[in-house]
Amino acid sequence: MSPIAKGVYMGKFVKVAETKDVAAGTGILVELEGERIALFNVDGTFCAIGDVCTHSGGPLSEGDLDGDVVTCPWHGAQFDVKNGEVIGPPAPDPVHSYHIKVEGTAILIERP
Ligand code: FES
Repeated sequence: MSPIAKGVYMGKFVKVAETKDVAAGTGILVELEGERIALFNVDGTFCAIGDVCTHSGGPLSEGDLDGDVVTCPWHGAQFDVKNGEVIGPPAPDPVHSYHIKVEGTAILIERP
């Protein structure tokens, strides 16, 4: 899946998507300054973590989301989408967690 937005700059925060782009219980891939970011909707709360699994690079935006835990589609590592922490193996390290703001219907992610 290709990124849906190139980013519209608003201070340190960059608009990456509209709220309607991310259905509850799902994730999408967005891109911010060349970084692949997995953006999730956990029952109306948006969370953003690095898209690249720390095990072998699987795309977390394509993983199944159960509550606030995403399962990597390649070998099943699990991450907490609120903070990027590893919940289950085989991923060795957490992924980056991004600050998010929602303004109206715009989802903004803070540049790292
Ligand atoms: S690449 Fe994610 S678990 Fe292997």
